[in-house]
Amino acid sequence: MEYEISYLPIRPDSLKTNTTVGCDIYLLTRTMAEVRFVLYCKRDAVFDEAKKEMLVVQKIKSLFIKKEEQPAFFDYLENNFQHIVSDTNIPSDERTKIVHRAATNLVKDLFADPSTGNIERIKAFAHNMVDYVIEDSKAAESLLKIAVHEYDSYTHAVNVVAIGTLFGQKLGLGPKGLKGLCAGILLHDVGKTKISTDILNKKGKLTEGEFGIVKKHPELGVEILEETGIEFKEELIITLQHHENDDGSGYPYGLKKDEIHPCGKIARILDVYDALTANRSYRDAVRPFDALKEMKYGMLNCFDIDLFKKFICFFGPYDLREKKGKSDRLQN
Ligand SMILES: [Fe+2]
Repeated sequence: MEYEISYLPIRPDSLKTNTTVGCDIYLLTRTMAEVRFVLYCKRDAVFDEAKKEMLVVQKIKSLFIKKEEQPAFFDYLENNFQHIVSDTNIPSDERTKIVHRAATNLVKDLFADPSTGNIERIKAFAHNMVDYVIEDSKAAESLLKIAVHEYDSYTHAVNVVAIGTLFGQKLGLGPKGLKGLCAGILLHDVGKTKISTDILNKKGKLTEGEFGIVKKHPELGVEILEETGIEFKEELIITLQHHENDDGSGYPYGLKKDEIHPCGKIARILDVYDALTANRSYRDAVRPFDALKEMKYGMLNCFDIDLFKKFICFFGPYDLREKKGKSDRLQN
């Protein structure tokens, strides 16, 4: 039916009272004769206590927005992030999904337009996300569960950020280091926005010349970040070093071992994990366990061994909960 395509459901508890949402919100009404969407709260009207009470009284579990207004709703979620993630009335899993949706939209916007405004949004998100995982360990766990078990290509980038931030927390990074790490992971490939999509999306092997161009993206990324102002040094390090391999075979500088900053080492592990678990034009995504296996048996030269072991230990319990036994083999 047409309405299913043009309207999207939203959760009523993702709306904060006394705010304007910025897009029209609809109720679904059903009669014997028809099913239709009725305007419930106009884009510039205040969602107040009375409106909320009406939803509670009528036990309404879903509201709807028009599909074309989804970006405005994502902006709303992003701006009210703190409210949503700290609202204990919303189940932890649901809060995590809301965080995901807002962040996914953010990443899409960044790659469509790597402007100062969008980079600032990324930094604000990194601040909020780190506060969120530090303050609420249950929420952090639910974020990781989604990251490991959901394979939607839109949420993929955010999944890797969640994994990286929580791994950084496990390694003992403090709030400032974590915020830098989180922002750095979100921004690390921003240099690709200066490279032709014909090359980036090319099916099949790149020519030497094309690969030479791709290899410039870490430095191009640093240029973009320097133009927009740096908040955390980790952002620059991660952007510049996320393709450097432990044995010196990476790029752009062929740094090895401790010439690579700890954040660069973390970023290298995450970048490979990201590449393996994402759906790409030239290969299907592999499951997290298989990605770790491929990293261990085929690419160990890329990583700092101690750090990689910690990554597997960090990951094992989440990934392999249903497949006990395999984790032991990876950790040996
Ligand atoms: Fe990259």
